[in-house]
Amino acid sequence: MTKAITSIEDLRVLAKARVPRMFYDYMESGSYTEGTFRANTADFERIKLRQRVAVDMTNRTLASTMVGQKVSMPVAIAPTGLTGMQHADGEILAARAAARAGIPFTLSTMSVCSIEDVAQNTDQPFWFQLYVMRDRDFIDRLIGRAKAAGCTALVLTLDLQILGQRHKDIKNGLSTPPKPTLANLINLATKPRWCLGMLGTKRRTFGNIVGHATGVKDVRSLSSWTAEQFDPKLSWDDVRRIRDKWGGKLILKGILDQEDAERAAETGAEALIVSNHGGRQLDGALSSIVSLPTIAAAVGDRIEVLMDGGIRSGQDVIKAVALGARGVLIGRAFLYGLGAGGEAGVTQCLDIIRKELDTTMAMCGLRDIHAVTRDILVDPPQSLNRGPA
Ligand SMILES: Cc1cc2nc3c(=O)[nH]c(=O)nc-3n(C[C@H](O)[C@H](O)[C@H](O)COP(=O)(O)O)c2cc1C
Repeated sequence: MTKAITSIEDLRVLAKARVPRMFYDYMESGSYTEGTFRANTADFERIKLRQRVAVDMTNRTLASTMVGQKVSMPVAIAPTGLTGMQHADGEILAARAAARAGIPFTLSTMSVCSIEDVAQNTDQPFWFQLYVMRDRDFIDRLIGRAKAAGCTALVLTLDLQILGQRHKDIKNGLSTPPKPTLANLINLATKPRWCLGMLGTKRRTFGNIVGHATGVKDVRSLSSWTAEQFDPKLSWDDVRRIRDKWGGKLILKGILDQEDAERAAETGAEALIVSNHGGRQLDGALSSIVSLPTIAAAVGDRIEVLMDGGIRSGQDVIKAVALGARGVLIGRAFLYGLGAGGEAGVTQCLDIIRKELDTTMAMCGLRDIHAVTRDILVDPPQSLNRGPA
């Protein structure tokens, strides 16, 4: 029996032991020097909370809404590519865990399980994340498929028109499924659970793309297709075109700059996500949590503000809410849970975050997540303006 899991860090350690190195590294890395990846978590630690005492802590609630949808706590699962490679059928398992926890799940364009597959195997609607590619017909079909599957929000990612380089992926020869090289076979031999899971599923490639995009029939043609397909000409006009085509709730993901936030607010989208793609794109960019207050102040209540990047605890969630986020999305935290223990691992991750958030809110002297403001932070301007950690 494994030792008791009590923190997100415990889940990370277990995931590292269970997931093949190639996919663990794909997850646990940032671009280039990984400076922004590290800052995302380090900057949270510099923000300090005010401890309050002798206040009534009974009847607490974390329930809120994100883009008008009821959530049991202000947390959603972020879209992550290749989730089905951290654990067999990963997207379906994580979507089920999110549904049971009463929070939204976001399916990535680059998922292993397809939109239809996740819809068929879960009983709660989910959000769909869209990458804009040159093949506009394919994009339009993806939007149509997300609508047909009953997705309740479209998350449009704006910060990945070209790829930031992750050194480890190149060194590991990342591919889906892994190539049978000697190094890979030796590493896979140490991951029997993962291998058994993969042998038991047919879902091993990019489910939304293979068989749907013109000219993509297998993984080999897929890799060249993705490299060529992300559209470097994406513009605010495209955002408006997609908004009209979709017609439902739209969330703009990857906003880090105040001027872009202003433009995002003008599009009529429901929400923006302050995000640097988990430190995987512009290395040297500010952390999400440091960017958040400026953006929240700039847009006011013209657009809902969400954030992601570096959330590894309930304490991080409350700090983000205090600094102006209506809610947060978690990427790696849920992937650690998934790699560590599949659906049960994601549930464990969400339980840990929920309990930490609830306890922290109480110790800050509050009973309702809606009452959380900057007031719970010690001297917020100073703790944020000391420059990068
Ligand atoms: C392994 C991995 C894959 C990702 N794939 C996508 C993706 O397909 N689409 C997307 O919009 N964001 C993607 N992201 C970014 C996440 O949605 C999110 O912005 C980021 O993980 C938040 O930071 P955190 O991991 O520190 O929580 C990915 C992140 C990771 C770690």
